[in-house]
Amino acid sequence: MISNVSKPLSQGFTQNRPALGASLAARFVQSALLALRLRRYRIFCCALSHLWFLKVAFAILRRVRPLMIFKKTLFVTKASDVREVLDRFEDFTLGDSIAPGMPWGAFLMTVDWTDQHAAERQLLQSVVAPLPDVERIRAIVAARCREQIDAAPGEIDVVADLFEPVVVSIASNYFGVPPPGGRERGMAKIMRDLAGIIMVNPPVGSKPWIQSRDSIAVITSHVSAELERKAASLKTADAVLPDDLLTRLLRQLRTGSRHAWFDEDWIRRYMTGLLATGAATIVRAAAHTVDQLLAHPDALNQARAAARELERQEDLKRHNLDENLDARVEQARCALRHYIYEALRFRPMLPLLLRDTPRETVIASGTKRARLIPAGTRVIAPPLAAMFDPEVFPEPSHFLASRPLESYLHFGQGPRQCFGRYIAETALMEIVRALLLLPDLVRKPGASGRLAYEGPAASSMIVTFSKVRAIS
Ligand code: HEM
Repeated sequence: MISNVSKPLSQGFTQNRPALGASLAARFVQSALLALRLRRYRIFCCALSHLWFLKVAFAILRRVRPLMIFKKTLFVTKASDVREVLDRFEDFTLGDSIAPGMPWGAFLMTVDWTDQHAAERQLLQSVVAPLPDVERIRAIVAARCREQIDAAPGEIDVVADLFEPVVVSIASNYFGVPPPGGRERGMAKIMRDLAGIIMVNPPVGSKPWIQSRDSIAVITSHVSAELERKAASLKTADAVLPDDLLTRLLRQLRTGSRHAWFDEDWIRRYMTGLLATGAATIVRAAAHTVDQLLAHPDALNQARAAARELERQEDLKRHNLDENLDARVEQARCALRHYIYEALRFRPMLPLLLRDTPRETVIASGTKRARLIPAGTRVIAPPLAAMFDPEVFPEPSHFLASRPLESYLHFGQGPRQCFGRYIAETALMEIVRALLLLPDLVRKPGASGRLAYEGPAASSMIVTFSKVRAIS
């Protein structure tokens, strides 16, 4: 250090020039590589959201090579084979491929050991009260939809000003995690970032990567603080806490658990996991559903009639105590669900699911297309391909709301099927119904009416409507 100072400045500069040049070159190469990776990330996000390329590719593969291995990746394109992959928990694992997208710690999706996965899932399930919870979620979503739509002046960004506020309300009132600092938009952004990195992990060091790390840091300390606050309140005898998932898990912990792994850190990791898997997913699914209903005007009209019928049956039920009315409401709800599922088929929330093969195995055994899959193969099992397989979805390019609901694969299949399906279906139904009841609902002309994304997360889509209330 001292000897450097004693050298004439110009000499030191000349001697350091090669090192400086090398480090500048290294930095240039690094940023060029990062730009390249970022471009690949953007192309991948785009392919995952605008699905025409994948649809064409899967249709060709299904005809010529339904189980195709390219390098070390297996592409599965028939519905029955996609279901087989998802059903075989131990032969097709998820943990390794999903763990980098969940850096806040182990969560249901990263657990590949059958018994452990079943035990952790069962514990989470034990704090859900299916029927009352569905009613509660329905009420939360319906109230927030009314509030947001009433405040809109005849046009609304359905993503930022409807779907996101709805999921923030679910997180606050049902999960038990209010927005940090009361900032709803900040919470929506965090949930976008969390879901974004699960779907497509951005390149390390890129802007979306840095933002996602910031979001994880904020939500981790926020969930930990909420947890501590509620745990402290539970210790006082006269504590009155809201009945949400976080509080229920803490109560469960206090009653004593037979599982050594169930502790406050488990609750933190799982609450963060639920925020990551259970918010922006609903936003993306609702955006895709509405986008596709708007893209199919005949189906849109029929779906609007189904929404009005549901409204009518619920009105009858409110004014009459006849027990049969429950069944009729459920029937009307089911009719509308058909439109939602079919619309989402054209743009599924999760078009691709990933698995890995820890050991050699055979798929489609007993059929002509049976294949031996080497250990270490990455498997792409796409609901998108399954839901365009003409064997299960005749005339797949047609919007047909009469298809059996069991044929769809929106929520996965087997031991890993969506844990939050009851939340997602309830929220989707209420959100879509609220929009369908708006008179003259159309996409805003121009770019702002098209669905936009931030990474893989939906970020904006503006629709217009007439402010006069619909007469049902
Ligand atoms: C419309 C919205 C949603 C869709 C379309 C959806 C779809 C899916 C799918 C396809 C899977 C299976 C993933 C795989 O097999 O690799 C899955 C798993 C999962 N989902 Fe959802 N999901 C939605 C909303 C939610 C919500 C609201 C929550 C919770 C609050 C949630 C929590 C989970 C969890 C925890 C898993 C992992 C289950 C396991 O590994 O056992 N999801 N979801």
